[in-house]
Amino acid sequence: MIVVLLGPPGVGKGTQGMLISKYLHIPLISTGDLLRGEVREQTNLGKIAKSFMDKGELVSDDLIIEMIKKRIRRKDCAEGFILDGFPRTLSQAKSLENMFLRDNLQLDAVLLFDVPEEEIIRRLTGRRVCEKCGAVYHVSYNPPHKEGICDRCGGKLITRDDDNEETVRRRIVVYQDATAPLISFYKKQDRLYTIDGVGKVEEIFERAKNVLKKLNGYN
Ligand code: AP5
Repeated sequence: MIVVLLGPPGVGKGTQGMLISKYLHIPLISTGDLLRGEVREQTNLGKIAKSFMDKGELVSDDLIIEMIKKRIRRKDCAEGFILDGFPRTLSQAKSLENMFLRDNLQLDAVLLFDVPEEEIIRRLTGRRVCEKCGAVYHVSYNPPHKEGICDRCGGKLITRDDDNEETVRRRIVVYQDATAPLISFYKKQDRLYTIDGVGKVEEIFERAKNVLKKLNGYN
């Protein structure tokens, strides 16, 4: 199955994506995580990307499309994959369609998560991530057992550079301008499923599972 997760920053795409990935046994591919990996490794792409990411702006389509092309052709994607944070512009969506045409693949569903803006800001300004394993926490909604320490691996929890309120607000504007047009693009193709993203993580996962079950008869 091939699934795209769509929605503004902080809506819970990564959180739900991990659960859906375990449920469907297919990899979760997050362009944000791939880019942060490049930044950590200090590659040329990472150096270019960081300046855009820190300001809440999008990295150029060409760089992102190249990165995704390579990633989805890896062996672990043979049974499908979940895209989190891609496509994010109409040009990326059209390139994805061309990649699928060439590789004889088909997009099954686009899950659009819907959460009010003030809740998004609360979620992002309170997010903490493990610098070692990438596990995601929230200071109030999902705190670690020991403050500042990852429950899973004991790594240090940090705040992402782009999770300050000013950059979060910019990311929301960029989403409205560049990414929201994808909603009507996928609606026209009859591939869009809107999921209420407010509530407990498990409740939202149930909503997502219900959509996927209907599409594919999964249990
Ligand atoms: P990216 O990493 O993709 O950031 P994003 O889209 O802004 O999404 P986030 O990772 O911030 O949020 P999320 O929806 O995954 O939420 P999460 O589950 O963590 O991209 C970063 C940057 O990279 C971009 O700004 C851009 O510069 C660049 N980039 C990436 N892709 C690109 C592309 N295709 N083209 C160009 N540039 C690109 O949850 C958030 C918080 O809420 C967490 O603390 C979590 O614990 C909490 N939470 C989750 N669910 C709930 C719930 N139900 N109730 C309460 N709290 C919850």
